[in-house]
Amino acid sequence: METVTQGTRNWLQRAVELDSTDSFAAAVRAEFEIPPGVAYLDGNSLGLCCRSARSAVLSALAEWGRFGVDGWLSAATPWFDLAESVAEQVAPWVGAYPDEVAVGASTTVQLHQLLATLIPARPERSVVVLDDLSFPSDSYAVAAQLSMRGFDPKRCIRRVPARDSGLVEEADLIAALDDTVLAVLVPGVVYTTGQRMDLARIAAAAHGVGALMGADCSHSVGVLPHRLHDWGVDFAVWCHYKYLNGGPGAPGGLFLHRRHHGLRPGLAGWWGSDKSRQFDMAPEMTPAAGAGALQIGTPSILSLAAVAGALELLNSVGVDRIRARSLCLTRFMSEHAREALAGLNFTQVTPEQDERRGGHLAFSHPGAARVCRVLKREGVVPDFRPPNLIRLAPAPLYTSYEECARAIELLADIVRSGRHLAEPGERERVA
Ligand SMILES: Cc1ncc(COP(=O)(O)O)c(C=O)c1O
Repeated sequence: METVTQGTRNWLQRAVELDSTDSFAAAVRAEFEIPPGVAYLDGNSLGLCCRSARSAVLSALAEWGRFGVDGWLSAATPWFDLAESVAEQVAPWVGAYPDEVAVGASTTVQLHQLLATLIPARPERSVVVLDDLSFPSDSYAVAAQLSMRGFDPKRCIRRVPARDSGLVEEADLIAALDDTVLAVLVPGVVYTTGQRMDLARIAAAAHGVGALMGADCSHSVGVLPHRLHDWGVDFAVWCHYKYLNGGPGAPGGLFLHRRHHGLRPGLAGWWGSDKSRQFDMAPEMTPAAGAGALQIGTPSILSLAAVAGALELLNSVGVDRIRARSLCLTRFMSEHAREALAGLNFTQVTPEQDERRGGHLAFSHPGAARVCRVLKREGVVPDFRPPNLIRLAPAPLYTSYEECARAIELLADIVRSGRHLAEPGERERVA
């Protein structure tokens, strides 16, 4: 049971006051289906379902029922054009021209496609720079693509370690660049630590040595502004199921800067055809003019419908408002944590500075897996990342200050009481 101290009361009271003065946030939250009885702080893993996503999926189902195969051309947004329509909706969220975006395959497949397209165009280079904290699937895709080109990934992947702070410094990534480097791939926000990376700075440094710069924006898109085109990023991927609330397994997105348009797709498929030629059924492909050429096969219409529906809501709010609220929420949590978690063996790994912080906070603790299990059982949904990180993501569209305060108080109470010590020690399984 939570111990109610004066400090607890103060933070909870402040949180309730902040919530009560923000009627706009309350109105947006009302658009979401919030799992009952819990403070959901896992929107950086799977964003919640909003009304507009639900109704877009139901409309797509109704159109399937009504039109059958004719839905490809007769649906309100013909299914044949739906991926292009979603690409247009999401382009502002990554700071791209619509023809620089393609949506359809999973995030990992999008990365495979970009690498398979870009690597052959630079046969003289074979080194890829990755940060040591990069998402495993990114590493696997890079290794597989290098292997397919006959390069040894053990020799060709140059990993930049995190410093003692747990953070990867841009300066270290830049120091790892030289004229053997084909590409550097970095996250927009590091999925473990919540650290925001300066993509423009890394892109400029990469171009200085003639390398490409790629970004995995899965943990940054939907929670902070991007200007991928203007920053000079060459290629990027992201998923739509985190802060963009497009639903479990929602299709991933890719960005290919206009300067690379016209390259033959590495993994060619008929959905990358020029749309006016796709049904010619010719044995030779005529690729679409822009990033659309990197589509592969038929996209999942029901999943795209959910993404389109969620984007309607997001576009009505706008990224600047989202980022401003996200920063307020994480700042509030961080200040609360500094006081409430003092002396309990927690360390906030996420940077304090606004410009270096993404949408979630990560705290290290030696008993993190056990603490997360108790947290979840007692009404706060966090997530755990091995070996010792607790991630808490206040989603700016639907998390209240009160939920943030409750999470920090519960964290403190669990560790103070030692409730986590009774948990079995086996490794936490994370979806
Ligand atoms: C940072 C990051 N990159 C890549 C992926 C892989 O995405 P997908 O499973 O859609 O391929 C994830 C999945 O959570 C992720 O968090």
